Amino acid sequence: MKYSRIIGTGGYLPEKILTNDDLAKIVETSNEWIVERTGIKRRHIRSPDETTTSMAGIAANRAIEAAGIDRSQIQMIVFATCTPDLFFPNAASTLQRLLGITATACPAFDVNIACSGFIYALSIADQYIRSGMVEHALVVGADSLTRLIDWSDRSTCILFSDGAGAVVLKADDKPGIYSTHLHTDGSYGDLLHVKGDVYNAPSCQYINMQGNAVFKVAVTKLGEVVEETLRFNNIDKEAIDWLIPHQANLRIIEATTRRLGFPMEKVILTVEDQGNTSAASVPLALDIGVRDGRIKPGNLLLFEAFSAGFAWGSALVRY
Ligand code: UT7
Repeated sequence: MKYSRIIGTGGYLPEKILTNDDLAKIVETSNEWIVERTGIKRRHIRSPDETTTSMAGIAANRAIEAAGIDRSQIQMIVFATCTPDLFFPNAASTLQRLLGITATACPAFDVNIACSGFIYALSIADQYIRSGMVEHALVVGADSLTRLIDWSDRSTCILFSDGAGAVVLKADDKPGIYSTHLHTDGSYGDLLHVKGDVYNAPSCQYINMQGNAVFKVAVTKLGEVVEETLRFNNIDKEAIDWLIPHQANLRIIEATTRRLGFPMEKVILTVEDQGNTSAASVPLALDIGVRDGRIKPGNLLLFEAFSAGFAWGSALVRY
């Protein structure tokens, strides 16, 4: 039996930081309101000469270096993003070129599932490794959601930010990724969307979100998918060393852990310093936990995320 193991992680956050006080100069809000309702204190904003792919390139290079492999060994790139640099070629092909991976037997493709994208991308790469088709895969989550923000909408401009995270997966006899669980319910599509299509490509489109309604469904669905993951693997929540949730809002994370009776001390949190980096959020939190030494080899990790679609998912991973 083959499993996928995470053998390297990497992350990148742009240098420019926007604080809550900075935002209070743009819209009618306050540091107190934002901290109380979201837990966010600051977020990173990409510079004009950065792109989703350039950020992903830095994160990917860090993950490849941590994995200790040669980039020519990568046989697949799965790139989770809803903000690619171009309509096409896709972000993954651009990243392949940026990384100097010249093998054409390295398929590179995007998955667009907004904030849940990394979990979906991980699940796809995991299937290829389990089936024996691929030995090493690069899985990336990167987004530039600040490019889709209406800076006069105080309910969204306080939440979103830019960044990139990446992991290298390797085939191994030992787990690794035990299971991934993916869900979609398209009937919720109107509650969180960015309008825009190929016919209206040049016009400016912004994130439109009914935040409170999104919040309520997110808490329910994230609780359910964590319970599903534990049940599927026949383990108790006590077996989990670290919960690595999508970092949309501290209150969503707290409500989910409360529902599960899971201690907040075992949650990797980045939301305070990063806001919601969309597809980058889970791999960035993972990378921080790995690099600061909290996540140790052999730890059992549970990833979960929720996004527009609505789509949500989880992964149970032995690090
Ligand atoms: O990645 C997945 C996608 N996104 C999410 O998961 C986000 C989910 N939702 C949220 O994080 C929260 O719903 C928000 C942070 C967006 C809003 O917090 P809330 O506690 O759900 O507030 P609300 O939408 O119920 O609004 C309460 C009040 C409203 O005023 P009125 O109508 O009661 O007078 C809003 O206009 O708060 C007002 N408000 C603000 N006030 C100060 C909304 N945004 C702000 C703001 N500053 N930035």
